[in-house]
Amino acid sequence: MKEIRIGLLGLGNIGTGTYKVLEMNRKEIEDTVGCPVNIVKILEKDIDRERDITVTRDMFVSDPEEIFSDPQIDIVIELLGGVEPAATLIERALRSGKHVVTANKAAVAANYSRLMDAAKENGVTLRFEASVGGGIPVLTALTGCLKANKFTRVLGIVNGTTNYILDRMTQEGLPYDEVLKDAQRLGFAEADPTADVEGIDAANKLSILMALMFDHYVHPKDIPTKGITEITAEDIKSAEADGCLIKLIAYAEIMEDGSIKYEVRPMRIINTHPLGGVHREYNAVFVEGNVVGNLMFYGPGAGPLPTGSAVMGDCMEIAKAMLAKGE
Ligand code: HSE
Repeated sequence: MKEIRIGLLGLGNIGTGTYKVLEMNRKEIEDTVGCPVNIVKILEKDIDRERDITVTRDMFVSDPEEIFSDPQIDIVIELLGGVEPAATLIERALRSGKHVVTANKAAVAANYSRLMDAAKENGVTLRFEASVGGGIPVLTALTGCLKANKFTRVLGIVNGTTNYILDRMTQEGLPYDEVLKDAQRLGFAEADPTADVEGIDAANKLSILMALMFDHYVHPKDIPTKGITEITAEDIKSAEADGCLIKLIAYAEIMEDGSIKYEVRPMRIINTHPLGGVHREYNAVFVEGNVVGNLMFYGPGAGPLPTGSAVMGDCMEIAKAMLAKGE
């Protein structure tokens, strides 16, 4: 009987969450795929950390080539984070004939064409559902059942850390620094939270959304971006007095002349807008399609288990396609 064998790059917060998802729901996952699914090799330096999962020492490797050159491994999951060496390793895995699943928005956004080309040239699949909106299945919907639309606009709350910070500052009147520490403790924030609070993480996600929705790739560095570090309690109170909330919004819109306007910045959102009801680390992606109308995808946008849910879902889609093709 076929077995789907996975090599995992990185056993940090998200890697551990993904591993847990497979441990918790193994029966459902394997029943759906139709064969055993196992993570068999893990690239990770920190092998002694207590993780509350069942991994054995012989699963750890220190050289990624041990995964890429293993003919038994079908899928590589990349959860190292950051642009490099992650992007190079994703490309290396694709060029070794492995399907790749990643949650790494920074690596995908900065290398979109290069990685998509590598997948195409090698007849393998690159999936990155977890890279935007954590556990929310927004990319699969936009590129699947909504593909009959021309998309005209997207407004996204796509960074859990900043939404968590702004929400608790708004609801509880707490200072920025105190809430940021909580977000880091809860595992939402990037290792260096600058990427979150300066809007860089949201720009990475907007770059991916624009590439998929508008077939228009913009490098995240070319997206005008402003974070939340200058937002004060007074700004929040003044917005509240006008019936608004301040949210970090990733925005892109097709203008009448066909050009695309895009930016990431804190924006005032009227309380009654669906995006106004997005609290804590939750994310939401509000899209306009010319035939479907307005849709909002909402759910947990960060954290090990929601992100692991999307990563494992991508692996299952690849596994099902492999089995259907008799691979
Ligand atoms: N640091 C990111 C966030 C993690 O806070 O949304 C999920 O991409």
